Amino acid sequence: MSLASRVRFHRQAALLAVAFGAMYALGCSDSSGNSTSTAAADASTSTDAASNTVDDAGAPSVDAGAAVAPIQVSASDFDCILGWEKVRGFRLKRIGGGNVAESLAVANNANGGTYPPGTVLQLVPSEAMVKREPGFSAATKDWEFFSLDAQKAATTITARGAADVKNAFGGNCFNCHNQAEPKWDLICEQTHGCAALPISSSTIQSIQNSDPRCP
Ligand code: HEC
Repeated sequence: MSLASRVRFHRQAALLAVAFGAMYALGCSDSSGNSTSTAAADASTSTDAASNTVDDAGAPSVDAGAAVAPIQVSASDFDCILGWEKVRGFRLKRIGGGNVAESLAVANNANGGTYPPGTVLQLVPSEAMVKREPGFSAATKDWEFFSLDAQKAATTITARGAADVKNAFGGNCFNCHNQAEPKWDLICEQTHGCAALPISSSTIQSIQNSDPRCP
């Protein structure tokens, strides 16, 4: 990302830069920006993200009980997160017609679980995880990672895909989230096994409160 576009990020981005920058020093991100490290299993999944022509007619339904249609995700799905469900430190919504209560039940299960397709999570306005349909990406447990440019007028998706997506500061989403214990379905929070972000919960809350997309 160029210096010029970095400048467009305001106070919240500065805080995140401190947080994620510190994490790189601790060795959480992938090596150095040479992007060829862990791409093996995921080379095909990032392109799948854009096309929803999945031939899943005969695919076994792995964990959702019934066959699930491809989850279509567009930039307009990422709106003001203050209008979403608040679960501890993060925000949650459901797209694709599913019941948000099912997603909340997993989020509130003390033993973890697998989030249903169509679950959308955000910690900060510039990053999101969307649970895609079974078969999207085994490596990322069918999560699609998004890096977003959240502006007052609209959200722009700057990167999306599976294990190769990086945030605005070069941090690989999957490398950090994959540290979560298996039962937590790649969700980090503060006690799931991921290295902690060096920003406080109240700072995260204030970043959410300054979501530029909110009225
Ligand atoms: C440096 C490691 C790191 C990187 C890189 C990173 N995350 Fe996270 N992420 C975390 C941690 C740790 C938390 C939990 C923070 C907390 O609750 O205090 C988190 C929280 C989240 C949450 C809320 C749910 C949860 O897991 O707690 C979402 C959604 C999320 N990140 C998405 C992303 C996306 C998308 C990217 C890439 C564009 C990304 N993250 C990059 C470490 C990272």
